[in-house]
Amino acid sequence: MKIAVIGTGYVGLVSGTCFAAWGNEVVCVDKNTQKINALELGVVPIYEPGLDELVERNVAAGRLSFTCNLANAVKGAAVVFIAVGTPPRAGHGDADLSFVYMAARELAPLIDDNAVVVVKSTVPVGTGDVVEKIIGSVRKAGTFSVASNPEFLREGVAIRDFMEPDRVVIGVEDEHARKVVTELYNAPLEVQMTPIVVTQRRTSELIKYAANAFLATKITFINELADLCEQVESNVSELALGMGLDKRIGTSFLNAGPGYGGSCFPKDTMALLRTAQDYGVAVRIVQETVTANEARKRRMALKVMDALGGEVDGLTIAVLGLTFKPDTDDMRDAPSVPLIETLQRFGARIRAYDPVGIENAQQILSDVELIEDPYECARGADAVVVITEWGDIRSLDLSRLKTIVRQPVLVDLRNAYEPGAAEKAGFRVSAIGRST
Ligand code: UGA
Repeated sequence: MKIAVIGTGYVGLVSGTCFAAWGNEVVCVDKNTQKINALELGVVPIYEPGLDELVERNVAAGRLSFTCNLANAVKGAAVVFIAVGTPPRAGHGDADLSFVYMAARELAPLIDDNAVVVVKSTVPVGTGDVVEKIIGSVRKAGTFSVASNPEFLREGVAIRDFMEPDRVVIGVEDEHARKVVTELYNAPLEVQMTPIVVTQRRTSELIKYAANAFLATKITFINELADLCEQVESNVSELALGMGLDKRIGTSFLNAGPGYGGSCFPKDTMALLRTAQDYGVAVRIVQETVTANEARKRRMALKVMDALGGEVDGLTIAVLGLTFKPDTDDMRDAPSVPLIETLQRFGARIRAYDPVGIENAQQILSDVELIEDPYECARGADAVVVITEWGDIRSLDLSRLKTIVRQPVLVDLRNAYEPGAAEKAGFRVSAIGRST
């Protein structure tokens, strides 16, 4: 099947490449000529494990190509995915849909008859209706379809999430779209018996927000329980296991930490709140989740201060891990940022290490000494604070680390080390959801 993907950001690039790997002929289109030129040379603009190689293989096989020419990209395509960004509108919190609508306006006169336009970008409920109206203003009704197909990819494991999804969600309003989009996924996923949920377009749009808001709530729940564990001398990791093995609850997304971040949960929970507000519905639990998470990210600075006896003025703090989670270079809404800024306001000097995120961190953080080696970063520090649980940070030699620091204070905001391991190496440890 020929597929066009509009937008070569994270979602568009991963999806387009994976569709090509499934044997489709995929053309990815973007207005950013620099990005397209780089991709044509095999340079992938984002950090995602395995993606470079998959792009290279599918380009070489002649199944995947990149262009700035929308007309050529959509010509002959049975399916046209819109995968452009929907960033939060400044000061509003709702999603900025201007790129989605622009794509719809531009593709409308160019697509083949019977093409299915599929919105993959994360969009508020009802966006598919507007896209249909925009295309319908230049094309006869019945000669095109508009569907919704949200993505559930996690940065860092996006290729596996695409190739082996828990489920696929497709929102359609007509039989032709149902047949075409279902077939696109069913052929490669049939052997894995992946459930494909076919629903109305509006429900599909809402599923994406509901899923992200639920996961954000789950993390916030365990984070608050972690606070309680610290007070009552109990252990949140064991608590999460004991709870999570109940199949109705599930063990994943129950790791307590410094609060969720990233380009999705903060943005999507806010956008869901805006939608609910627009329709006069209270989704209080999501509101509480957002509030609690924001407060938590800043409160983590107090945890560091407590570990140092209440003061950080003039002290040097070594921060290990800056990105919002491991295996990504993404710094968007990373908990490290408010934590570092708060510590700086209290007079701390910050040195920081991240295996991949330093370049992006440079754009966001000021007055932070960014160091490319974790041990060098910790040299002479009054406290070491683990914010992101990268593999190389988890496997640091704690005894060696202890010989380098000025004060043996370790604040482990991800429970990256086994209880007792850092104490054995001589550190005074402050972890999440346990008394030591
Ligand atoms: C999230 C969803 O997991 C994906 O299903 C969804 O497709 C994606 O958003 C999106 O909407 O595009 P992502 O933001 O890449 O994916 O990262 P997650 O792995 O979900 O982590 C989000 C945040 O929650 C991170 O800051 C992470 O450290 C935190 N987290 C996650 C925890 O604190 N504890 C956990 O147990 C899990």
